[in-house]
Amino acid sequence: MRILGIESSCDETAAAVVTTEGAVLSDVVASQIDEHAPYGGVVPELAARAHLRAVLPVVAQALAPLPRGLNDIDGIAVTNGPGLVGALIVGVQFARTLAFCTGLPLVGVNHLDGHLLAAHLRYEGARAPSYPYVALLVSGGHTALYRVDAYDEITILGQTRDDAAGEAFDKAAKVLGLGYPGGPVIDRLASHGDPAAVPFPVPMASKATLDFSFSGLKTAVARYVQAHGRPDDDKTLADVCASFQASVVQVLARKSVIACQRQGIDRLVLCGGVAANRGLRARTAELAARAGVELVVPPVRACTDNAAMIAYAGALRLAHGARDEDLSVYSRDPMARRRGKFRRDGTLVKRR
Ligand code: KG4
Ligand code: ZN
Repeated sequence: MRILGIESSCDETAAAVVTTEGAVLSDVVASQIDEHAPYGGVVPELAARAHLRAVLPVVAQALAPLPRGLNDIDGIAVTNGPGLVGALIVGVQFARTLAFCTGLPLVGVNHLDGHLLAAHLRYEGARAPSYPYVALLVSGGHTALYRVDAYDEITILGQTRDDAAGEAFDKAAKVLGLGYPGGPVIDRLASHGDPAAVPFPVPMASKATLDFSFSGLKTAVARYVQAHGRPDDDKTLADVCASFQASVVQVLARKSVIACQRQGIDRLVLCGGVAANRGLRARTAELAARAGVELVVPPVRACTDNAAMIAYAGALRLAHGARDEDLSVYSRDPMARRRGKFRRDGTLVKRR
């Protein structure tokens, strides 16, 4: 089966065609970064308007390699949450209309499930993990550890109690005057800095919980800038970036490996935009190897927001008979109930 996937939950309009086996026949992403950069973050109304402009050409481009275009498609999958409601509505309404006109079956896909299954996409050189695996999902909107037993059997093991890791990267970059989005810039600068130069805290380092917290670290960077001013030489800037990144990476890498050990699973997958971070990849590889855990990191284009992961997650749902004719949208992950108090599996999170 060939599935058309559509993604519009945040600041990327994307469409892709993927087979049920994970082969990627097309994969188109239109980024809105330039649109939001002057504001230092994503502006929801601008995002929705930009999706409206991009959705038709992006879908047309994704269908272009198919000899018979839409006639070669067997089903449609669209992200219907979590994300920005106005942004989601554009993709969902487009997908619903397309399904109505063509008679093709339609399913909604949870954006997070897309990230968690992206490692199965058959990009050149990519190695798919076998089930079960532990996955660290780190993006601009989410930071959580999951146990993935099957495409539809996903359990949350721990999550951030405040900011997402990507949000911390972006906010730290903002106070350092590095522009938006800051993750890739900090990654680049950190590679020639000294991670021990500034003693930033390693937040929620305790092994007792698999939860995370990044808002304190963001404040620590802001305090550093208040006390010392913005670094005005390349060496200090690189050192501050390297020290900040080391704190984030250390806690993410350590808890991912601890999660594997607790679950008795020796496979770990990194996914989400922050999985592109070279420091995170390197440190996790080091700790995983030491613990005898196999690490799978999908190519960068499968880590950041894309529609191939949505098409793939949707293809599996469609193949198992799912149909969502009356599709609505949701802004928050329904499984992360009362964030910060309850885990995805419903167990109480003890406050420290
Ligand atoms: O998964 P994604 O594309 O979108 C969301 O679902 O949020 O992730 C975007 C986030 C941004 O916060 C961006 O700064 C961060 O991923 N990011 C990085 C890197 N590349 C992207 N953070 C650290 N290092 C990177 N190389
Ligand atoms: Zn995402």
